[in-house]
Amino acid sequence: MRILVTGGAGFIGSAVIRHIIHNTNNEVLNVDKLTYAGNLESLISVSENPRYQFSQTDICDRSALDQLFNEFKPDTVMHLAAESHVDRSISGPYAFIETNIIGTYQLLEAARQYWSSLEAPSNENFRFHHISTDEVYGDLEGTTDLFTETTPYSPSSPYSASKASSDHLVRAWNRTYGLPTIVTNCSNNYGPFHFPEKLIPLMILNALQAKPLPIYGNGQQIRDWLFVEDHARALYKVVSEGVVGETYNIGGHNEKANIEVVQCICELLEELSPTKPEGVAKYEDLITYVKDRPGHDVRYAIDATKIKNELNWVPEESFETGLRKTVEWYLNNSEWVAHVQSGEYQTWVNKQYQVQS
Ligand code: NAD
Ligand code: TYD
Repeated sequence: MRILVTGGAGFIGSAVIRHIIHNTNNEVLNVDKLTYAGNLESLISVSENPRYQFSQTDICDRSALDQLFNEFKPDTVMHLAAESHVDRSISGPYAFIETNIIGTYQLLEAARQYWSSLEAPSNENFRFHHISTDEVYGDLEGTTDLFTETTPYSPSSPYSASKASSDHLVRAWNRTYGLPTIVTNCSNNYGPFHFPEKLIPLMILNALQAKPLPIYGNGQQIRDWLFVEDHARALYKVVSEGVVGETYNIGGHNEKANIEVVQCICELLEELSPTKPEGVAKYEDLITYVKDRPGHDVRYAIDATKIKNELNWVPEESFETGLRKTVEWYLNNSEWVAHVQSGEYQTWVNKQYQVQS
């Protein structure tokens, strides 16, 4: 396959590209604007590979996209580029409307124009895989119910509303124009190379720097955590074996309350980094309850039966093994951490958490 990956310098996109280059013979073109969340240092292990190319391009730029389609001639698009952080969508929703909705529209149109020019069987084999989130379903109030592929959409935040919107566009381009699309909706990912504005990397790095561990509200909100490399394997399986027009939910079967997750991180740090910063007796002592996130979704949990039965995918990593690998990775990659924690990152953290505490 010749795979055009958007957002390949981000957390999940870089895991997808590393997976494809290391484990298959496919060619990849990474199309990424390099926002604050994009980091080419996450791709060092593939950057010299002749099957990998990079283009710094905004997916809202239609003429640049047309040129990339005509030059690279992809048979597969994996669309991950997005603004992805809920808290940022609350303080500045416009970037989410622009990239997640308008950008997806521009990419769909560029893909449709290119796909229309293909002869059979290339046009039949073409795939547009849209990577989305379980947050489009809103939240679950019960303790046992799960999101399935037919759960009605009910997004709560500007982020999830913009992703829901992009999912609808993708399905409309399939139904109306016949573009061969597939959609996946995944639960919360964690793992190496995760930008430290999200819960797990933020807590690991704050603890190591003796900063407060800010828990929104009562900390009882539940997320279903999936190790990012399991997600990358699932995405590759879907794009190579999935059925056109279908949706697949992807999840980790690892439901945890936020406070539990933070306590697990503290315990792992006690074991893996016992020499604590001055003034810290126990990492757990840094836990600080702060003002809740507006519109905070209470519980997400995925029913991943369809992808298991139809494509034979199950996660390989348990939360315990995956979290240990993640904490070890952050302890061993201080250079990557130091580079992402500069400039724009400091501005965000100061703005977000001064208001909170
Ligand atoms: P991320 O924020 O780490 O990375 C996003 C990437 O997109 C960055 O490299 C950024 O530079 C790029 N980008 C942003 N705007 C762009 C634009 N206009 N043009 C080109 N590139 C642009 O995000 P992530 O966590 O890797 O998420 C990837 C995708 O997976 C997103 O679509 C997200 O909605 C979805 N998803 C994420 C999770 C999760 O837990 N992180 C779970 C389910 C689904
Ligand atoms: P996050 O990693 O932002 O992912 P999402 O909002 O997409 O699920 O947050 C995960 C959970 O952790 C969510 O319930 C909000 C909570 N949270 C905190 O309690 N404190 C924090 O500082 C952050 C960033 C998140």
